[in-house]
Amino acid sequence: MNSTAYEQRRSQIEHYFDRTAAQAWARLTSNEPVGRIRATVRAGREQMRQTLLSWLPQDMRGLRLLDAGCGTGALALQAALRGAEVVAIDLSPTLVQLAAERMAAEHPHLPGSVRFGAGDMLSPEWGTFDHVVCMDSLIHYDTPHIAQALGTLAERTRAAILFTYAPRTPLLAAMHSVGRLFPRSDRSPALSPVNGQALQQAIQAQPALQGWQAARTQRIAQGFYTSQAWEWLR
Ligand SMILES: C[S@@+](CC[C@H](N)C(=O)[O-])C[C@H]1O[C@@H](n2cnc3c(N)ncnc32)[C@H](O)[C@@H]1O
Repeated sequence: MNSTAYEQRRSQIEHYFDRTAAQAWARLTSNEPVGRIRATVRAGREQMRQTLLSWLPQDMRGLRLLDAGCGTGALALQAALRGAEVVAIDLSPTLVQLAAERMAAEHPHLPGSVRFGAGDMLSPEWGTFDHVVCMDSLIHYDTPHIAQALGTLAERTRAAILFTYAPRTPLLAAMHSVGRLFPRSDRSPALSPVNGQALQQAIQAQPALQGWQAARTQRIAQGFYTSQAWEWLR
């Protein structure tokens, strides 16, 4: 996907995760103690990861999985423990390096494999996959860009795409408008609250997603974490 708006957004996200938030993200995804608010986010994210993993085959030997926007690699690790051949990609070289170091230290021998890469998860260079998972890696893009990203990934996916979006809730809508009023108050790229029906229409309008079906969906809401998982099947 090569639009200037997408590239600008992607570059803000890369800057945020690679520099502004890299340390906070490393801590959030570790076992170190965090404050009360972040603890709810950590618990919600754990529940989300378990939900997505429960939608993947238990035995993944012989299957290729793309962990698209892998962050520090927790989902990639679980898929490799099930025997998958995982490609784990993130815009942030810092997070990718941390993910690779953690995995080498904690799980030097895996039934499957993980190849880490720093770059755009939408690039064709990563190959083709049976399963693609975008856990919270599309939440900073708007609806048209989410649909285009899914269309791009669908061209290379044989079985299923699992992704999450930030559902439009009154709290998120309020945070979004406050973020617009005070753009400098928060250096993180704003979340894009998404209307599920509008997203479904945008997805169904993508040529590469013709014939794909929406399947399971699950909202996880824990304290300051709210995210909606959605499974699409070929
Ligand atoms: C909220 S974090 C989630 C990380 C990980 N999936 C997890 O759940 O722990 C979102 C991640 O998506 C990555 N990301 C966003 N857009 C991306 C893109 N186009 N290509 C690769 N990574 C991307 C960001 O760099 C960031 O690390």
